[in-house]
Amino acid sequence: PLVALVLAGGTGTRLYPASRSHRPKQFLSLSNAGDDSLLSQTAERASFADELFVCTRNDFADEVSEHAPDATVLVEPKGKDTGPALTYATHRIREEIGDCVVLVLPSDHTVSGDFESVARAGARVAAETGALVTFGVEPTRPETGYGYIESGEKRDEPEPHAELTAFHEKPDSETAADYVESGYLWNAGIFAWTPESFLTAARDSELAPLVDALDDGNASEGFAAVDDVSVDYAVMERAEHAAVVSAAFEWDDLGSWDALERVLDEDDAGNVALGDFLAIDAADNVVVSDDKHVSVVGVEGLAVVAYDDRVLVMPKEQAQRVREVVSALKEEE
Ligand code: GDD
Ligand code: MG
Repeated sequence: PLVALVLAGGTGTRLYPASRSHRPKQFLSLSNAGDDSLLSQTAERASFADELFVCTRNDFADEVSEHAPDATVLVEPKGKDTGPALTYATHRIREEIGDCVVLVLPSDHTVSGDFESVARAGARVAAETGALVTFGVEPTRPETGYGYIESGEKRDEPEPHAELTAFHEKPDSETAADYVESGYLWNAGIFAWTPESFLTAARDSELAPLVDALDDGNASEGFAAVDDVSVDYAVMERAEHAAVVSAAFEWDDLGSWDALERVLDEDDAGNVALGDFLAIDAADNVVVSDDKHVSVVGVEGLAVVAYDDRVLVMPKEQAQRVREVVSALKEEE
């Protein structure tokens, strides 16, 4: 069977203050169309799978069930990023389903086009070659928030794919520019693998103590024995047998505020907005608010975000620095 596994345990730090620890971005809609939340959209996108699981941390479990009522919710003992979460969930799926292909879907993406065909092709490659399958997107800018894939020999069977020869997670901007120049692909963050292939790779990584503990039925001890780490750093960067399938669909990660200018319609001056706003002599801004009316006058290239009792203002090209705000606020607490 094909098992969809949606990741919904992130805190979405870079979308502060819309995304807060009690309301991470997977529960937001981030569109003007009154769409469902990103998580509901993701569950819907995966509805062709034979089984649907969502893995998340304890605090979000109830809300996940509201947004994805048809899914089985797996609650990891502790939020420690995607490495431990995917190890835990893949292990549970092996116990509950047995032999299968797990299709991993993050819940912070906008996707349109024929996702199902591409996902099924990737799942076949995973089943028949035993590779950890990634989905590669043609890069359009030297983004530092993504992983980059170097691909090797091309194969036609069982579906068109290439060997993955190297994986580089979140490079600095100079290195990212080199990668784009060299024709590397972006990692879409979507994966397909058999439980056996993934757990073998995890056993060969810093996640090994967790895999051993899960084999012994000690999930909490296993989580205590590993550090926070994403699957990209822990497993994909050192995977020996991985492949890449071309992600032939429209794709974007709504990872930071500047991403909205790629998915929302612009006004004549290049401003995009979620919520009510007024722009006078203002260009290329991203303006986001909940029930507040925001005016921007004579400014350019800013992100202005007003949610609850919080306001954030920054040049939109420094959108990744919201992380610094969140960690400074945490220290204050
Ligand atoms: N269950 C669970 N537990 N889910 C988590 C956790 C956790 O501790 N941490 C993050 N997630 C979920 C997020 O909610 C999101 O849906 C997904 O895992 C990916 O996490 P992000 O934090 O958004 O990752 P990223 O965007 O920085 O990087 C990944 O995706 C990029 C493309 O979108 C990497 O795979 C990159 O290589 C890739 O390019
Ligand atoms: Mg992301």
